[in-house]
Amino acid sequence: MAEEAVLGFLEKNEEISDSGQFAADRGIDHQELTNIIKRLSGFRFVDAQDIKRERWVLTEEGKTYAAAGSPEMQVFNAIPPPGISLEELQRKLDPSVFKIGCSQAKKNQWVEMGKQLVTRKVDNVEDKVKDLLNRVQDGEAIDPKELDALKRRKLIAPQTWKGYSIRKGPNYAPKRKIFATDLTRDNLLRGDWKDLEFKEYNFSAKGQPIEGGHLHPLLKAGLCTATIQDDFSSDGADIFLALDMHYADLRRCPRTILSKAGRFFWNFDALFQPQQHPARDSHDTFFLQVPSTTKTLPEDYVERVKGVHESGGYGSRGYGYEWKREEANKNLLRTHTTAVSSRMLYLLGQQKNFTPKKYFSIDRVFRNEAVDRTHLAEFHQIEGLVCDRGLSLGDLIGVLNNFFLRLGMSKLKFKPAYNPYTEPSMEIFSYHEGLKKWVEIGNSGMFRPEMLRPMGLPEDVRVIAWGLSLERPTMILYGVDNIRDLFGHKVDLSLIKKNPLCRLGME
Ligand code: PHE
Repeated sequence: MAEEAVLGFLEKNEEISDSGQFAADRGIDHQELTNIIKRLSGFRFVDAQDIKRERWVLTEEGKTYAAAGSPEMQVFNAIPPPGISLEELQRKLDPSVFKIGCSQAKKNQWVEMGKQLVTRKVDNVEDKVKDLLNRVQDGEAIDPKELDALKRRKLIAPQTWKGYSIRKGPNYAPKRKIFATDLTRDNLLRGDWKDLEFKEYNFSAKGQPIEGGHLHPLLKAGLCTATIQDDFSSDGADIFLALDMHYADLRRCPRTILSKAGRFFWNFDALFQPQQHPARDSHDTFFLQVPSTTKTLPEDYVERVKGVHESGGYGSRGYGYEWKREEANKNLLRTHTTAVSSRMLYLLGQQKNFTPKKYFSIDRVFRNEAVDRTHLAEFHQIEGLVCDRGLSLGDLIGVLNNFFLRLGMSKLKFKPAYNPYTEPSMEIFSYHEGLKKWVEIGNSGMFRPEMLRPMGLPEDVRVIAWGLSLERPTMILYGVDNIRDLFGHKVDLSLIKKNPLCRLGME
């Protein structure tokens, strides 16, 4: 074996001065020897020094002449003693051999290129070119002038040969023990495990990358609670609690309120959204087939809602249409988390004595929408509301500024908007430094008395509220410009694995 040959040689000798020579003498393939030297040097069994040699090798053209003779020789041989016509000579030879051969043979004064006939000028010639090429191939030393001539004819080319000179290394031993790295089934079956010596464990080696779970950016953004579950987990509460805004934790709510399936009633009617409103259309909303309707609504409250839609009250004229219970009974996948807010506010309205409250929710919502770069049919909303006596629009603006500042968005603009359930209403825009433009990040407003009073909330209680998609700020914070890259079946799993922990910066 080549490894034993190297180690054995070094046991008795100071040095292997040339791996090329060493390999040639023993009939070892030099590439194989090179691999062994690299391995032994890695284990520091040997110290290896590079040796580089420029040597000449035959080009493809050179190789053909080394075998078949130079073109000039081929031309010479093709000419019979009485001579030959040029056409005939050409027919006998390969075109490139004919062309080069004629010019070289003429230059060598081997042939006479007459008008009628091509004839030999001498009787015998020596194919020096073929001879030289064969000597180059055998690695013999050759006169530089001759080499130069071959080089100019592009029959040879330089090549750097790499080899080593080798001496004993600090771990040298005449024989290298091969340590086992694994205990295999075969070892056990053969029983040779008893004699195995195992490689030492390398505690500083890097392990395999861990194939563990990874947090999704929506979760990492610290905004999303239970993206899959239909109720809230503590993570989401934490950011709001961390915000020190003392929001009540909706985990205390009955689970039904939080379920994805809502009722038209809580999603629309309770929000003073008229039954003819286009948002209630199947184009925008997913209906539930089973169970398609609900019958469990608080009847006295339903009556008050019907009343306010039909003829108003609490200072309102209402919409003046005939409100239908069947519409309100339909089940749907909630289109906004305001459906959660309406049920919470209704429960709050049932308290004997009103106490101020702050609520939030983060959950999944569904809209029957065409999917594109910025829209999905399923996404998440963050919603917050504050209920207290005497709140004003100024409070809403203040809370929103505070809230978004803590999410790392400081430049806000508010634009008047319309929602059936809020008056006044404001769309919230934030300046996107990356996109260099204002982007809409949420919607907000003060819930209307037509919504709050039927719930039983006192007249002077005001509710400021806002809602936004969770995906929007996450896209901004992660620089994602296609929502489908962030959420859904098209998400690239490596994005989930590699994206950094998001810091919700504070100015
Ligand atoms: N429900 C609104 C939406 O989906 C957001 C909103 C919530 C607006 C609360 C006002 C008050 O866009």
